[in-house]
Amino acid sequence: MALVDVKGVAKSYGGHMGLHDLTFSVDRGQILGLLGPNGAGKTTTLRILTGFLPASRGSVTVDGFNIDEQPFEVRRRMGYLPDNPPLYPEMTVRRYLQFMAELRLVPKKVRTARIDRSLELLNLKDVSGRLVGHLSRGYRQRVGLAQAILHEPPVLVMDEPTVGLDPRQIADMRELVLRLGKEHAVVLSSHILPEVQAVCGRIIILDKGRVVAEDTPEGLRRAIRGNRTLVVTVRAAAEAAQDLLRRIERVTAADLQPGGDPGETTFRLTAEAGADVRAEVSAACARGGLPLLELRSVDVSLEEVFLRLTTEEASAHELVDRRPA
Ligand SMILES: Nc1ncnc2c1ncn2[C@@H]1O[C@H](COP(=O)(O)OP(=O)(O)OP(=O)(O)O)[C@@H](O)[C@H]1O
Ligand SMILES: [Mg+2]
Repeated sequence: MALVDVKGVAKSYGGHMGLHDLTFSVDRGQILGLLGPNGAGKTTTLRILTGFLPASRGSVTVDGFNIDEQPFEVRRRMGYLPDNPPLYPEMTVRRYLQFMAELRLVPKKVRTARIDRSLELLNLKDVSGRLVGHLSRGYRQRVGLAQAILHEPPVLVMDEPTVGLDPRQIADMRELVLRLGKEHAVVLSSHILPEVQAVCGRIIILDKGRVVAEDTPEGLRRAIRGNRTLVVTVRAAAEAAQDLLRRIERVTAADLQPGGDPGETTFRLTAEAGADVRAEVSAACARGGLPLLELRSVDVSLEEVFLRLTTEEASAHELVDRRPA
């Protein structure tokens, strides 16, 4: 049994299904990302996981303890950075951590050591005497994370840990999550693709409370690569070139790209799933007398997967079908 086991969890908010049917497991050394747009069910999932919200259906176990039967045992094993950590602005950072350590029942004799360790780990030593309310957003976020690890929980749950951070702080947070992920089981949520791509070994994409895809970052990329995209640049007028490209067998779209040098036109070419049409494209250009200046495959980023998942029903179903059983 995995450290964290979530089975068939659903949540109904007065008849409205915030979450339909979610199953996953996470072990130490793994980072799971819940990815999805607003209202996807990320916060709902994390609140259920941390015992702040009862599920309408399904079960959550942590380290073998069922959340309904032994909520205290489960919570002891969880560190939670909520979407809006309740920080006390009038406390100093150290005082706040002391307060949280007491609340978490961290034994008195190790309290100071734990606080120092948290401060150290999150690079907060220099600001430990400052008022929480005077800290920048990035520092407050780190304080939020510092309180989540005080009781040394094996499981860390973070709800959109990088929201509101600047690029530098995002990079720091990323590094930190990777470091924490080595020893903890981490579940985090995000609506930013590159973020989950960079840190998560597994990704569950949620949309409107439903799982639309579940895979590794690489697996998701591969799944979508079925629809190969080519970038083609020719020295020709747009209309004639577009006409020629569209008529190539198994090409489903030739979208004109803006910009480019005068006299040159660039297209984004989409082919049928699994079709490699590069040879056909170059042959067609030669036949039509269009100088082919560039022809390359685009490595479809997870970002595009995501756009498809949430904007195109067909691709979403395609991905669901590819989900591992
Ligand atoms: N307390 C609540 N009462 C009623 N409906 C709720 C409540 N909390 C969430 N919902 C609904 O459940 C669905 C999922 O919401 P949730 O907050 O889990 O999404 P999210 O993925 O965290 O979104 P965001 O990116 O905006 O944080 C939404 O349709 C939301 O309106
Ligand atoms: Mg949320």
